[in-house]
Amino acid sequence: MAVAATALEGCSSGDEKPGDPVRSHIIMEAQEIRKKTDLLQAADWEYMAGAKQAADGLELMPTGLAIVNKREGDRIDPNPPLNIGMRLQASGDFAVAADVRSEHPVSLQLYGTPPLRYDDFRYDRARLECSTAGNTLNIRVWDGSRQDPALMQSYPFEGSAVNRQIEIRREGDRLVCMVNGRHVATLPKGDIFNTGEVWLGLNSEQGPAKVTTLDARPLNGYKLGLVDTTSLRVTEQLPDGLQSLVRKPNFRVGAAVALNPLVSDSPYAQLFLGGEVNSWTTENALKPQAVQPLEGVFTFAEGDALVELARRHGIAVHGHALMYDKAIPKWMLELPYETATDKRRLREVLETHVFTVASHFKGRIASWDVWNELVKGFNDGVTLAENPFTRGLGEEAIDIAFHAAHKADPAARLYYNDYGLETNPQGRGKFTFDLAGRMLERGVPLHGIGVQGHVNEMPRDIIKPGNLHNLMREADGLGLEMRVTELDVTGAKGAEAQAKQYADVLKVCLEATNCTGITFWVLDDLHGAGTSVKKDGSIRPGNAAPYTADYRPKQARRAMLDVLRG
Ligand code: XIL
Repeated sequence: MAVAATALEGCSSGDEKPGDPVRSHIIMEAQEIRKKTDLLQAADWEYMAGAKQAADGLELMPTGLAIVNKREGDRIDPNPPLNIGMRLQASGDFAVAADVRSEHPVSLQLYGTPPLRYDDFRYDRARLECSTAGNTLNIRVWDGSRQDPALMQSYPFEGSAVNRQIEIRREGDRLVCMVNGRHVATLPKGDIFNTGEVWLGLNSEQGPAKVTTLDARPLNGYKLGLVDTTSLRVTEQLPDGLQSLVRKPNFRVGAAVALNPLVSDSPYAQLFLGGEVNSWTTENALKPQAVQPLEGVFTFAEGDALVELARRHGIAVHGHALMYDKAIPKWMLELPYETATDKRRLREVLETHVFTVASHFKGRIASWDVWNELVKGFNDGVTLAENPFTRGLGEEAIDIAFHAAHKADPAARLYYNDYGLETNPQGRGKFTFDLAGRMLERGVPLHGIGVQGHVNEMPRDIIKPGNLHNLMREADGLGLEMRVTELDVTGAKGAEAQAKQYADVLKVCLEATNCTGITFWVLDDLHGAGTSVKKDGSIRPGNAAPYTADYRPKQARRAMLDVLRG
């Protein structure tokens, strides 16, 4: 299994040394590829967005998948999908060739490690993209040392630009790109396939395309394997998984999860499947921009894969989030909201989105954040957040979403989720509870309130146990469940302060009868919300998770073990 191609800097800050790295016991089914094999036949393609397997090949449709890059002035960054359900295992030389039919540009992408995908930026780690547009082959290489490509080059090629064959070969320390059977470019291999893994992506963002064959074969006597990553399972549980120590009934310990590291990073998989947690929150996979990137184009590949893996392992899924204005696609962000016609369309869009997503996962997702972060401001300045839906419809926007979710899946528990309720009880807390009270009076199917719990800065965001306890009581008074949904705690003030905060929150959650769970955002420092890109383009992990970026448990985790062991 892969270790990140990217070198990670040491990133735990704190006074006490983190423990030994998580030991992983992961297996996946694999078969050897001895001769030329068509991967369209040999593997499933349902886990690549935009692709549909047909009798005569793979149909590619534009997905519009993109990230609104908030760190770069809302720049729209393309976010092409890869087939995360399978990969090649290549100890040495190999070739991959695609026969493509389309008038549009189509790219064949090989990844040494799947990208890190945050909700507001993407970080490629090792990727080779060969894209043909007209009679030009455009090559880009990302090497994991920085966010932008390390190499970009264009070459003319001969032969048909419509029925073309794109082939990539790894031969020793070189990568060879061919089009229509003729050599077009040779590049140094660098570190790109050092993991021994090769992940594949095919994308056609400007119009439909058909891939009639996608052959893989070993070269020069080397071995090549085909791995079904959806067969992922662990053979040995963690000796002291946090959730396994919970004695409170109907209480789950969870974490936000992402698909790419789950199938490509074994300690990550060990934590998520090996007994640390028994609830997964979909970190970014089900946010609106990920599931309906273009109006009417729903992309469930990543969510389906996560939900299926969870099902096989008896893990409950908390869906995050049916509506979240910080993660809506551009087309939704630009909906007009002034006239009666605009408002009718807003209702339709909202209802269709929520209903379609919640129906798709009916019976498979136990609970949902229906609206996320609709409360803006602090103290006296608290209002409803502004987005096209609230601008056009006011509070009705909330009701519509909850009703649509309930209609789609009457058994799912429906949550309103937000931050700062516990740190600003008189402002954000009161506003939220007033809102919840009005919703209940109007007969809106609201079942619970999620307290995010991002302690980004101390002392500003510290969660006082008394405040949290009061919130839980107040929710109980309204007949509502509560859960801490996105706990992460900065390590900037040392390991001890961090550990105390994690332990304090867990204690309150275990004591409150209406608290149904605690969820960490996320388990390790690389994949969390605090990761950023440095000026030089390299990646900087955060420090707020219970595990370091190299999967060593911090004092925080030990403190939670102590709480659980009583
Ligand atoms: C975060 C993700 O973890 C990051 O990957 C992304 O870059 C930004 O969003 N509140 C929420 C979550 O409800 O959806 C956010 O998740 C963190 C804050």
